[in-house]
Amino acid sequence: MRVLAVFGSPRKNGNSARMLEAALQTLPESAEIRRVYVAEKNIAPCCATRDCQTLGYCPVEDDMQQLYRDLDWAEVILFATSSQFGDVSAPLKAFMERTWPLRGTLKNKIGGYVVAGRRYVESSINTLHAFMLRHNMILGGRGAIGYGYHEGDIENDPLAFEDARKMAKRVVEVYRLLCSGRMERPVAGG
Ligand SMILES: Cc1cc2nc3c(=O)[nH]c(=O)nc-3n(C[C@H](O)[C@H](O)[C@H](O)COP(=O)(O)O)c2cc1C
Repeated sequence: MRVLAVFGSPRKNGNSARMLEAALQTLPESAEIRRVYVAEKNIAPCCATRDCQTLGYCPVEDDMQQLYRDLDWAEVILFATSSQFGDVSAPLKAFMERTWPLRGTLKNKIGGYVVAGRRYVESSINTLHAFMLRHNMILGGRGAIGYGYHEGDIENDPLAFEDARKMAKRVVEVYRLLCSGRMERPVAGG
């Protein structure tokens, strides 16, 4: 199982990152995991020239080019984000926008997510669902929500970790179902 873990918060060891790490710990030992901290990357927002429609790829030369390869490699994509102004973090939103040229290629990859916020997180969830549906990904269970403000506050929300682990377990269940042949297996680039 090839898992791309996309961390959206600028805090590398923040609340959402801790939740996603807990989820990753529950994956089978055989899982290959690549971690990406999008806030550390140079990812410009989509410039909307539509050049990708004629070229068939995004010509913007920044860190997204490696991330396109990571997305292609992954069978499972797990997101972590802080809720910022009710939505996903700005670096994660830029990353999402830049996947526009990939329409079709993320089909049947399994998605999951965790969100950390002080209180208001609904639009973050909508954005994550919209991203996965737009790409015809398979939403592997409901995501996990954790409540906290300062870095580390999440340690006082045991349900956040419990739900994060449940999310990962459900993703594994869905992955195994797909691999069982009862449904078509997700194929990189397919
Ligand atoms: C710019 C900014 C905007 C924020 N807006 C919200 C918000 O709309 N709703 C919310 O619940 N928390 C909001 N927060 C608080 C963070 O979501 C909260 O501190 C969270 O635990 C951070 O997760 P992290 O440690 O993974 O970064 C905001 C934080 C920042 C920095």
